[in-house]
Amino acid sequence: MKPSLALLLIPAIAMLGNARAADTVREITLPSETEIYQASDLPGYALINAMCLTCHSVEYVKYQPPTSPRAYWQATVVKMQKIFAAPLPDEVIEPIVDYLVKTYGNERPAETKAESHRTMAHAGR
Ligand code: HEC
Repeated sequence: MKPSLALLLIPAIAMLGNARAADTVREITLPSETEIYQASDLPGYALINAMCLTCHSVEYVKYQPPTSPRAYWQATVVKMQKIFAAPLPDEVIEPIVDYLVKTYGNERPAETKAESHRTMAHAGR
């Protein structure tokens, strides 16, 4: 009985695959994390840096509608804690929500621009 062509080709293809895997070392360069939470002298700023960067970048926060009210941020942070199991002690929720609504939501001071905020924080105020 003649072995089928397909059966003969299987070992050949398998060897080809092995040779290629051994020859090529693949490197993956991840993009550097360039986005950071906007600096602030609110107590929630340190907390958010400590607790909200473990699973995802700042981007998720930045792309929320700037008109988002306090209740929206409250619901979002509670969702992180309850649904996504973020290890957030209850007492950090209020200051984090306060930071979020005043930095990315509808309680931002009208005249406060990102730059002046950052400068103030660097001046240690
Ligand atoms: C345990 C992991 C984890 C931690 C810690 C975490 N998140 Fe999330 N977050 C998620 C997941 C999962 C999603 C949903 C991702 C998706 O839908 O693609 C998400 C989505 C979001 C979104 C997008 C809007 C939404 O409702 O889905 C925002 C805003 C957000 N997170 C803010 C925060 C903030 C603020 C903190 C800190 C208080 C935080 N996250 C901490 C896991 C986490």
